[in-house]
Amino acid sequence: MKKIVIFTLAIVFIAGAAMAVPPGKDIVFKAGAMGNVTFSGTAHHNAGLKCNDCHTKIFPMKGPENGGVKFSMADIRAGKYCGECHNGQKAFAPNGNCTKCHKM
Ligand code: HEC
Ligand code: HEC
Ligand code: HEC
Repeated sequence: MKKIVIFTLAIVFIAGAAMAVPPGKDIVFKAGAMGNVTFSGTAHHNAGLKCNDCHTKIFPMKGPENGGVKFSMADIRAGKYCGECHNGQKAFAPNGNCTKCHKM
């Protein structure tokens, strides 16, 4: 009995962690030769952001593998998507900071 309870709790915990982006989940955006970009739910949670700072006015609650929004580096530079904050005011700007987001 005890084993079943622990097993069930483990499943609920794992399923819960997989559902939400922060804290504890990463989203990987494929970005070609520049190297992929990993969005860290934990880092953004630790920066004091709440779910509704991003959902759903900036991003849908869908990852890139599950029909999420399509956007480009040009959109980010134009202040959209990640660029709503990564504009040198709320968070670091794209210019000079490529490798803070893109990792080979
Ligand atoms: C700083 C911005 C930001 C914050 C804050 C944030 N998210 Fe997200 N979330 C994203 C991004 C970016 C995606 C991917 C969107 C896309 O690909 O279109 C995403 C995707 C998701 C997904 C879909 C995951 C998948 O793989 O399909 C869920 C669920 C989600 N977020 C829940 C949450 C919850 C719950 C919170 C608060 C605890 C939260 N998010 C806070 C940026 C954020
Ligand atoms: C609602 C505002 C907001 C949005 C939208 C947002 N960020 Fe951030 N991000 C922050 C803040 C605030 C920090 C912490 C302060 C800083 O590093 O300038 C941060 C930090 C980061 C960091 C450094 C921490 C780490 O994970 O190593 C990376 C990388 C990052 N963001 C990538 C992204 C990407 C990629 C997107 C879009 C998918 C995105 N962010 C969207 C606000 C945001
Ligand atoms: C705040 C995080 C962030 C920073 C900083 C950043 N990028 Fe990106 N970049 C992304 C994300 C996220 C994508 C993937 C968009 C997608 O899903 O296709 C991307 C995509 C790209 C692409 C793929 C093609 C395209 O245009 O979308 C190139 C090339 C690129 N970035 C170059 C750069 C260069 C050069 C810099 C530095 C001047 C830079 N990036 C800085 C987040 C960032």
